Amino acid sequence: MSQAVAAKGLEGVIAASTAVSHVYGEEGRLVYRGYDIHELAGKASFEEVAYLLWEGELPNQSQLDEIRSELATQRRLSKEGIACLADLATDALPMDVLRTVVSAVGANQRVSRRSSADEARREAVTFTAIFPTILAAFERRRRNLDPVEPREDLSQSANYLFMLTGSEPSQIDAQALDTYFVLLADHGMNASTFTGRVIASTEADMASALVGAIGALKGPLHGGAPSLVLDMLDAIGSPDNVESWMREALGRGDRLMGFGHRVYKAEDPRAEILRELASRMDKGDLYALASNAEQTGLRLLEEQKPGRRLYTNVEFYSAVVLNAVGLPRDLFTATFAASRVAGWSAHVLEQYADNRLIRPQSQYTGPQDRRFTPVSAR
Ligand code: ACO
Repeated sequence: MSQAVAAKGLEGVIAASTAVSHVYGEEGRLVYRGYDIHELAGKASFEEVAYLLWEGELPNQSQLDEIRSELATQRRLSKEGIACLADLATDALPMDVLRTVVSAVGANQRVSRRSSADEARREAVTFTAIFPTILAAFERRRRNLDPVEPREDLSQSANYLFMLTGSEPSQIDAQALDTYFVLLADHGMNASTFTGRVIASTEADMASALVGAIGALKGPLHGGAPSLVLDMLDAIGSPDNVESWMREALGRGDRLMGFGHRVYKAEDPRAEILRELASRMDKGDLYALASNAEQTGLRLLEEQKPGRRLYTNVEFYSAVVLNAVGLPRDLFTATFAASRVAGWSAHVLEQYADNRLIRPQSQYTGPQDRRFTPVSAR
């Protein structure tokens, strides 16, 4: 009997229709609701972009005031969220903490299935509002510091830095983080978004979809790479060591962190914007080392197999930017989640609005026609 062959890793498979965002991999373009990312980065705030992803249009002034206020007034963590956080080990991994506390907040909603469209839209705002609070409260707790109450007069990015440090961030740092938040807010049918949509397609609730998406983002082949980029740069140590270190790593068959992408066959436009931001933000030698590592890595990958079209991805210079604004490296992936929650929730809303259960098939490769033998005869 002939069987369709599975596309390994679902490469090239169109798994859903979406009007939220799209990656044009051949051209190296990323579009949110029809806006090229270059139109938005450095111009629109994260709040404007979250609204755009949820509603399909940029907000006018009163809509922007409203969404800012909705996000700002919902930043406080519920007592169940605080209690859950207090129970977790201080050496737990931030992504595990985020996943667990979001789940605890969801458990407190006591919903057995998806909410109405209006309620789900409110949940999108609430979860987007609390992700930074969870991370900052955890960071303070593991450093034996009191939590810092969120401020309603600050933007999402400035307030995140404020809650982490207890002091108001410089405008430069807040703007750099805001640009990062805008760039990372959505990205087509990436692995974590797809995970969230599969969960939403069963008509499960928003929290369940977000918890699943956080789990998918954690791995190094997706959102887990930026701290590994810094680990790689640390291990390289100095510009003279870049080439020998990378040759050795590639010789062993290791992957260079922050290089390669499933969809982009041209430069990732986010990497291009973050490179420029990193060059302005970095106050030490990290940018120079990263830039050297990028050039060398690209040359060695091309030497290894010409024409493969590998480039640095968004994670490579994210690491330098997040380091420059003072975030500890093990918070990088969770900070990515604090931006991507806007996109995840937009996709959940879109899935709910025109739902059909996502249930693909598999190609069976196991044995056939086996006969049962009792345990005594095995
Ligand atoms: N270092 C060395 N070689 C690489 C790298 C890399 N970083 N990435 C891809 N390749 C090579 C592979 O060895 C393979 O070579 P081959 O043609 O000789 O077999 C070829 O490029 C294609 O690689 P795949 O694994 O098939 O690519 P895939 O699309 O499955 O994976 C991924 C994409 C996971 C991002 C991959 O490039 C990778 O592992 N990168 C390193 C980790 C990383 O940077 N993760 C962050 C991704 S960005 C994000 O999700 C936000």
